[in-house]
Amino acid sequence: MHYRTDAEAVAGLVSKGQIHRDAYISEEIFQLEQERVFARSWLYVGHASQVPQAGDYITLELAGSPVIMIRHSDGSVRVLINRCAHKGASIVSRPQGNAGRMLRCPYHAWCYKTDGALLAVSLKAGYKDTGFEASAAAEGLSVPGGVETYRGFVFARLSRQGMSFREYFGEALGALDNMADRSPEGELQIAGSCIRSVIRCNWKMYLENINDTVHPISTHESASATAQQVGEEFLEINPTALEQLLPFGSGYDFYTKMGARTLPNGHSILGTKFSIHTDYSDVPGYQESLEQAHGKERAREILAFSPQNVVLYPSLATKGSPQILRVLRPLAANLTQLEVWAFQPKGAPAIMLERGLTYSRLVFSPMSVVSHDDVHLFESQQASLAAAGNPWVNLQRQFDPAEQEQGDCRFEDGNNELVMRNQYRAWHALLMQPMGAQA
Ligand code: FES
Ligand SMILES: [Fe+2]
Repeated sequence: MHYRTDAEAVAGLVSKGQIHRDAYISEEIFQLEQERVFARSWLYVGHASQVPQAGDYITLELAGSPVIMIRHSDGSVRVLINRCAHKGASIVSRPQGNAGRMLRCPYHAWCYKTDGALLAVSLKAGYKDTGFEASAAAEGLSVPGGVETYRGFVFARLSRQGMSFREYFGEALGALDNMADRSPEGELQIAGSCIRSVIRCNWKMYLENINDTVHPISTHESASATAQQVGEEFLEINPTALEQLLPFGSGYDFYTKMGARTLPNGHSILGTKFSIHTDYSDVPGYQESLEQAHGKERAREILAFSPQNVVLYPSLATKGSPQILRVLRPLAANLTQLEVWAFQPKGAPAIMLERGLTYSRLVFSPMSVVSHDDVHLFESQQASLAAAGNPWVNLQRQFDPAEQEQGDCRFEDGNNELVMRNQYRAWHALLMQPMGAQA
């Protein structure tokens, strides 16, 4: 197959709720989706609380491009491409640090303001009458096509083509509001670092699984059964862990009633009515502090919205309670980096962060009693999809041939694989548009 030049082959990757294996295993598709899907989508970069002081920065890679997220001297958070305008060296190479008042390239010492503007070049006189002012280098560091900070969450769209931030995420932004409003001060503080792991599978397997309600009872049977068996003992040692592990034994019926909603552009809310997080014990005094800050009605609304997962397609999944982000950074067709970040809602009891950290370690860490079950299966899928015979992955549970192409759809049954098909519709729509066509 030559997907880059064969539009018909790209069209054939999705068929009536089935996904062709090349979507997961083909490097050519991976390169195409980096350009056509990831570069034109709004990707999660980081949280403003990671760079509290002017000059603070973090570095990361977004869809193959190295970027710097930095606090500019005017207080705003900027995203810059980490590529010197002179000859392309990395401006900074540490994962985080403080650049002071300017960024200085280690190669020939060109300097930039913290918003990327070119401040000084070495041997300036040598550029006189060369036309340098009109060159790309004179523009300083490149910036993504779009950057937006929403409630402290920083996003970027690499391409100049694509939807505006608000149009792209629409009502999915309510999940970020909910996370921030769980702070009586309306602000979150990120925990120092994240749990970062690399899984030998395609990123879409992980993202599908975030909406997969049918797997916990079988995949995580041993984790929930063990939690039940040692329940009494554990209750004394770590009641939070027990409270978080036991619901993994919830059966199909539980998810049948939880409610779900798909949104345009691949986003979704799983557990619009309740989730495995709904019955976590109250934190003394917390509800009162939220009521004081936001009013009784809004406080009730904030606490009542506790979905299983909200997907902000294609790079982010949120949990409102406990407050955790999962960020996917695809590295290759068969390699995906996962970051798990926990937050303290400012002004809320410290146990809120404790809950997030416990959940991250207990459920999302690859060393945990839960995640290793998933990772084992993702890696087995990745290895076996190339097998002779059936080339399709099936996502037809409750498939309705008349279901909307893309869009806002509310439904009760959380076991409906529409939450995954919706991701593939968004993916396929972008993949079908060569760069240059208006997204
Ligand atoms: S490559 Fe950065 S100053 Fe030359
Ligand atoms: Fe799982």
